[in-house]
Amino acid sequence: MRRSISLDVKNRIDEVLQNVEDYSKEGLKQSLKNLNIQYRDLEDILIRSDTAGKPYYRKLLFKNDCLELLVMDWSELECSPHDHGQSYGWIQVIKGTAKNTVYEMKGDQFPIELLTELQEEGKLFFAPHKGIHKMAVSKDSNLVTLHLYSPPITGMKVFDLEKCAACIVSDDCGAWWPDDQTQKVKEIKLRKN
Ligand SMILES: [Fe+2]
Repeated sequence: MRRSISLDVKNRIDEVLQNVEDYSKEGLKQSLKNLNIQYRDLEDILIRSDTAGKPYYRKLLFKNDCLELLVMDWSELECSPHDHGQSYGWIQVIKGTAKNTVYEMKGDQFPIELLTELQEEGKLFFAPHKGIHKMAVSKDSNLVTLHLYSPPITGMKVFDLEKCAACIVSDDCGAWWPDDQTQKVKEIKLRKN
């Protein structure tokens, strides 16, 4: 049975995030820092977490109208390139090293790889509005990441670049091509122009 997050950690998250007043890029970064979440704070909910053949196990830790906080515990699979709907936010590497690949749009539809960077344990990196990226574990490390977005993500677009396709996925779907039909909000055929 999966345990829940300790009351102490839950209270700290609620206290910090319910009182956020600055939703700017820098304000969100400071809020994520103020949470001061360590791996040991999340261990109870991540131990024996099942990624179910997907790139990561995801758990929502906080959500209100303006913010959401998610933890992701990664398998060896990389996620699909994706945007974050209308949201932006910060990603903190709680454990391990993340490989982050950033894309830029070619024409108005087709993302192409721009760069890949390693983000080491403790680092925070920004996910800009309309930015497209994919992530994966680097080397053999375990990877746990914490994600603070504003507003909560809705309408995330996931790309399958080999098939020249994109899919807007439901809010409970991670950054992968949904195999459950109910998680497909809209499929889009991409033009390479
Ligand atoms: Fe992302």
